[in-house]
Amino acid sequence: TIQDLQKKYRPNLHFAPKENWMNDPNGMVYFEGEYHLFFQYNPNDSVWGPMHWGHAVSKDMISWEELDIALYPDENGTIFSGSAVVDWENTTGFFPDKPGIVAIFTHHLDGEEDQPPIQSQSLAFSHDKGRTWKKYEGNPVLSHETKIDFRDPKVFWNTETNKWVMVLATGQSISFYTSTNLIDWEFESEFGEDYGSHEGVWECPDLFKLSVEDSKEEKWVLLVSIGDNPQFDNGSRTQYFIGEFDGSTFTPDHSSVKWLDFGKDNYAGVSFSDIPKEDGRRIYLGWMSNWRYANEVPTGDWRSQMTIPRELSLRKNGGAYHIIQKPVIELDSYFSQKDEIHDVIISGKETKKYKMNESYVDMVLKIERLNATQFGLILHHTEDKATTITFDSTERALRLDRQNSGEIDFSDNFPHEQKLTLENANDIQLRMVVDSSSVELFVNEGKYALTSLIYPKKACESVSIFTSDGDIKIIKGSLLTPIK
Ligand code: FRU
Repeated sequence: TIQDLQKKYRPNLHFAPKENWMNDPNGMVYFEGEYHLFFQYNPNDSVWGPMHWGHAVSKDMISWEELDIALYPDENGTIFSGSAVVDWENTTGFFPDKPGIVAIFTHHLDGEEDQPPIQSQSLAFSHDKGRTWKKYEGNPVLSHETKIDFRDPKVFWNTETNKWVMVLATGQSISFYTSTNLIDWEFESEFGEDYGSHEGVWECPDLFKLSVEDSKEEKWVLLVSIGDNPQFDNGSRTQYFIGEFDGSTFTPDHSSVKWLDFGKDNYAGVSFSDIPKEDGRRIYLGWMSNWRYANEVPTGDWRSQMTIPRELSLRKNGGAYHIIQKPVIELDSYFSQKDEIHDVIISGKETKKYKMNESYVDMVLKIERLNATQFGLILHHTEDKATTITFDSTERALRLDRQNSGEIDFSDNFPHEQKLTLENANDIQLRMVVDSSSVELFVNEGKYALTSLIYPKKACESVSIFTSDGDIKIIKGSLLTPIK
């Protein structure tokens, strides 16, 4: 039945609310042994509506426990996206006894009649590890006279200036504010009019420092999600900038547009705050959907899930920096090695099929092209349904095709091509995390990510590796299956 299918689509490895609507991850923070994930939530329907902050906690960012709603709408409006920090030094005065969490979020108030909405930034704080919240009585703490899009505050403590920094989406730009107490905010600068993609409204920024792999170098990274614009095919997606931030102004190193993910289903992602220094990771996760069809996906009374949390770093290649994304190491403990193959040649028009029969898998493949021009991998869901990943060496293109993956009819846009271009197509390293209704590809040790929803009857029946001409060599293939 339809109900059974809708249950089938529920993820094993990804956070999804038990019921009703979810979008952006919010307020991700680590505190006293728990990772907190708040999220844009409509508790009254499985489509977008008046926003609340839902709440879940986890010890490892893979298994989540959903808790009570954290923030409800009030006289200042509904609760849009934002962040959370631990106020270790009681800069706010909210924590005379011991440190606690402060949420910094957007209040969204619908305008009267034909007036535009009003967006402003507000605070709430918790003394009991995020279980209960008090709104600050002086809300909102930051508003704007003219800007209509004025939202999604991401706040961090800047150790170089000893100030809080707020990174805010302000229409077609990002604005930076600073504060010593999270309450009084000073405008510093505005970035972006002349940079990046402006295909949609700018939303959900994040700013942090990342280390460059195999070096002591660090760079600042600014993430900017851009909203759906019906004039273009892509729907909502995320771009990023690499550069310098002096505590006041962000200066990018490049004028090219850089995309964080080449799939359609990774949006509004930001990183965790307050991950302990000893750990040192920058961990990111996104909303695994797209505004183009998020309200229509065929999952019934629950909608949307988050991506696998990903550890971020930077890689420098020929003078340019790229964000590297890898599933967090915590994911490994959900799998054990089932099969491993080495040095298997697949020749012209041949296909090798490997049985899986699992509800979720993690696979790694390292392939040398030899003389094939087209080759790839078919993830079989049932006898006649599959998701296909193809490498085309003449175009250096990797494509994920979900046209025949399962339910696709809910949106004309859903079957559209998802593609990325590689710097070389002779050796390809691919990691693929497949869950009940998603495929996350990490290509060339995390240099490219492609995140895609699918709605198959069954996730992983078997996998085939094929070439359409010429030979390839699977240098190494490994299949990890669930620890039951
Ligand atoms: C991004 C977004 C945010 C906003 C929230 C509302 O997906 O549009 O800009 O705060 O969703 O739910």
